[in-house]
Amino acid sequence: MSWVALVFVVSCATANPVTITMTPPPEPTRIPVFSTIALPAPRTRGTRTLEETLAQRRSVREFKDTPLTLDELGQLLWAAQGITHPAGLRTAPSAGALYPLEVYAVTREATYHYDPHAHQLVVHARGDLRVPLYTVALMQDAIRQAPVTIVITAVYARTSKKYGEERTPRYVALEVGHAAQNVLLQAVALDLGAVPIGAFFDEQVQNVLALPREHQPLYLIPVGHPR
Ligand SMILES: Cc1cc2nc3c(=O)[nH]c(=O)nc-3n(C[C@H](O)[C@H](O)[C@H](O)COP(=O)(O)O)c2cc1C
Repeated sequence: MSWVALVFVVSCATANPVTITMTPPPEPTRIPVFSTIALPAPRTRGTRTLEETLAQRRSVREFKDTPLTLDELGQLLWAAQGITHPAGLRTAPSAGALYPLEVYAVTREATYHYDPHAHQLVVHARGDLRVPLYTVALMQDAIRQAPVTIVITAVYARTSKKYGEERTPRYVALEVGHAAQNVLLQAVALDLGAVPIGAFFDEQVQNVLALPREHQPLYLIPVGHPR
């Protein structure tokens, strides 16, 4: 039910009627489902220092039902892999600037693929995949509760073409750590909470989210308003 302004008129036998207007709380912003959604320009100024953000980061596993705004989601995705230089360089470092990471956001409305070049969401799958994702991640409740789970995947071939089969697993693992830490710190800076989740069944996550075979899931990061 949508909120309407409520007006109470209190009559009193001897005095004039008293009118009390109650302003409704703002509607939570639901993220719309189109084929692509332009994200708001990322902010490069915040309200707390890096040191405060580092000191406050803690894994958060219980979330309120409140959805994230498009601003918040865009900011988190930008933190993960946003482009910050005309040459295509990004918020997180990458061996040889080969950028093997592909990022998804699983929300109530849809699962989106992040396009860093256009800073936009591309609808990957419509509908709510949070419960199926939770079931293939050892039923970790944070995934079911969070309004958004950011999924970081990697295309190993982008890195192995230069660095070969021996160095590539190490480089990709290091890179996903960089990107994940950016998301975790950005969440704190937005007054949100998050937890990095590594315990899940890789192939089943791929199946549930209908990921391309070469997009191998490495990290799930539920994000939301801490309960
Ligand atoms: C590689 C890695 C995998 C993790 N996997 C999970 C996980 O599957 N589920 C979970 O609840 N937390 C997971 N965590 C979070 C750790 O449990 C957490 O960082 C640790 O308890 C320290 O707490 P803090 O993050 O609040 O400092 C993981 C952390 C890392 C670095």
